Order: sequence, then C-alpha cells, then structure tokens
Amino acid sequence: MSNLGFSGKSVLVTGAAGGIGRAAALAFAREGARVAIVDVDAKGGEETVGLIAQGGGDAFFFKADVSQSAQVEAMVTAVVERYGRLDCAFNNAGIEIEHLPLAESDEATFDRVMSVNVKGVWLCMKHEIRQMLKQGGGAIVNTASVAGLVGAPGMPVYAASKHAVVGMTKTASAEYGRAGIRVNSVCPGIIRTPMLERALEREPRREKNILKAHPIGRLGEAEEIANAAVWLCSDAASFVTGHQMAVDGGLTSI
Ligand SMILES: NC(=O)c1ccc[n+]([C@@H]2O[C@H](COP(=O)([O-])OP(=O)(O)OC[C@H]3O[C@@H](n4cnc5c(N)ncnc54)[C@H](O)[C@@H]3O)[C@@H](O)[C@H]2O)c1
Repeated sequence: MSNLGFSGKSVLVTGAAGGIGRAAALAFAREGARVAIVDVDAKGGEETVGLIAQGGGDAFFFKADVSQSAQVEAMVTAVVERYGRLDCAFNNAGIEIEHLPLAESDEATFDRVMSVNVKGVWLCMKHEIRQMLKQGGGAIVNTASVAGLVGAPGMPVYAASKHAVVGMTKTASAEYGRAGIRVNSVCPGIIRTPMLERALEREPRREKNILKAHPIGRLGEAEEIANAAVWLCSDAASFVTGHQMAVDGGLTSI
C-alpha cells in the first residue's frame, strides 16, 4: 500500500507480541508510522520491536494488561510522552477459550473472557478517545471477529464478547464522529496465528470443518487482517466509520 498518510504518525497496537497484532505493527511501520507495541508478553513484544527496527522503523514496547485500568491509562500516557500524540489505535488484544456449549461454560471463564475482550477494548477506547479529543481527532480499529457478526456454536462466551466489541464500535463511532474520531472494527474469519494453533492442538478434528466454512477454500493469514486494519486507520478510509469489516474468506456470506 502507498500514500496512506502514516508518515510520522503514532500508532498503538495491543496484542502485538504475535499473531495479528504483530503483523499489523509491522505493516503500520512499513507505512512510515511510529508504533507502540503493547502486550502482556514482554519477550514477544520486544521481538516485534526488533523486527520493526531491522526494517528501519521506530517502535517501542510497553507492557500492559488491557483489562487493567491503570495500565491502560499508563499505556496512552507512554505513547504521548514518546511520540507527542496518538493518531491511531488498533485494539486487538483478545483471548479465546476451550470450545464448550453454553450450558457447559463456567463462570470463571466467562469473567476472564469478558474482562480481556470487552473491558479491555472499552478501557483502551476510553483512554485513547480522551487523548484524541485533546488533539482534535484520530482513528481507532477494534478487532472483533466473525463471531461478533453471527453465532459461533461452541463459543457462546467468545461470541458474546465479540458482539460487545461490535456494539461499542458502533456506539463510539456515533458519539465521536463530529470530533474527528473514526471508529471501526475488523472481523476476521479463521486466521493462522498462535491462537489458532493452540485451538487445533486442543481439538485437531476441527480443522476440516474450519476449512469448509471458508468459501475461499483456505484459512486467512495475519497479514490479511493487518492490511484491513491499516486501511481502516488510514486517510484512504476518511469517510468510513462505524463499519464492521469482515475479512473472512466469505465465511459470513453463506
Ligand atoms: N486467529 C483467529 O482465527 C481469530 C479470528 C477472529 C478474531 N481473532 C481475534 O484477533 C485478535 C488477535 O488474535 P490472534 O489470533 O493474533 O491471537 P494470539 O493469541 O496469537 O495473539 C493475541 C495477543 O494478545 C495478547 N494478549 C492477550 N491478553 C492480553 C491482555 N490482557 N493484555 C494485553 N495483551 C494481551 C497475547 O499475549 C498475544 O500476544 C484477538 O482479539 C482474537 O480474538 C482471531
């Protein structure tokens, strides 16, 4: 991609120690953005910084658990201290869980998933928007999922969490559109990342069905989600807000 307007901009990516977040951080850096890498995994986060530095880019790691209010607030402060402002945020950190039908899901799992996938995105948006209001605008992309658009048998709690991300995205886009802040979500199909590898290790027989669910005939790659996040954050998407972009190989079309 070129001329997307990222030169000199500062971008924050959560869950950037691996998977989709790392691919997005690298893609933002290739476009000329300065990138804050946020994750609970310091080793993976520093590796992402190293990869960006190898490509001649500017990045730093900030360790934060997105479900912890004080850490999220400190994360935004750190970006502003380092880069002067926060132009774009990709709120991508999230967790998946063992597949179980609703009646077998347990309360501790419900609380953990909601705390990272819902409270985490809410806290990130809250502190990012406060900063973006001070500077007069910005762009936010949240990682939802196809499980935020349609039901996901075996993943009732995860689906609830991702539908909540969609709801917050739509609402925030309406609340802050006039303030120059665009808010969108990207809804991946099934993507080859460490998250998927862990899920297939637990239940290898799922792979055939997962493949069948994608009309395009293959799984997605992290870079394909990264490209969508970069575009949604870019000046090329200047009239796009409140949109839930499915990047799913056609999964939700059938
Ligand atoms: N892989 C898929 O098939 C798929 C499909 C749809 C949506 N998603 C979503 O995409 C996002 C990224 O997933 P991925 O596949 O790259 O997963 P991943 O597990 O490979 O990467 C997620 C990253 O988030 C970090 N993280 C987890 N909890 C955190 C917390 N509380 N605070 C900060 N960082 C935290 C992890 O350390 C990890 O580096 C998630 O929101 C996930 O729900 C993934």
